[in-house]
Amino acid sequence: SLQKIKQKGTLVVGMSADYPPYEFTTKENGKTKYVGFEVSLAKQFAKDIGVRLVIKNMDFDSLLVALETGKIDAIISGMNVTNERKKSVDFSNTYYSGDSYFLINKGDKDKLVSAKSFNGKT
Ligand code: ARG
Repeated sequence: SLQKIKQKGTLVVGMSADYPPYEFTTKENGKTKYVGFEVSLAKQFAKDIGVRLVIKNMDFDSLLVALETGKIDAIISGMNVTNERKKSVDFSNTYYSGDSYFLINKGDKDKLVSAKSFNGKT
């Protein structure tokens, strides 16, 4: 519960950090860093509650069991609602529909064809 999370002072979020741009890892000075918009979201949640964030990285398929057994407090991992999953866990409201796009001017249509086109050397 929220009260328990506040008592222990940590929010333990489970995610499978293999899913850019949701959550993934980068190396910074040899240290693994969690990044992605859901990592930002998790950080903000912890901040709002006033606790420290602990991210537990695991296989996507392990997340639900980890939540059910109390190893983690929440899942933030690009997990969609399904009737099967709803049987065991409680989903929040939608915060991201996944239907988003990268837009460019029509005139650039043939110039900017892939991510590589944006390195300034087209
Ligand atoms: N959206 C898909 C699902 O809910 C896949 C999510 C995978 N997420 C991840 N962090 N690997 O099943």
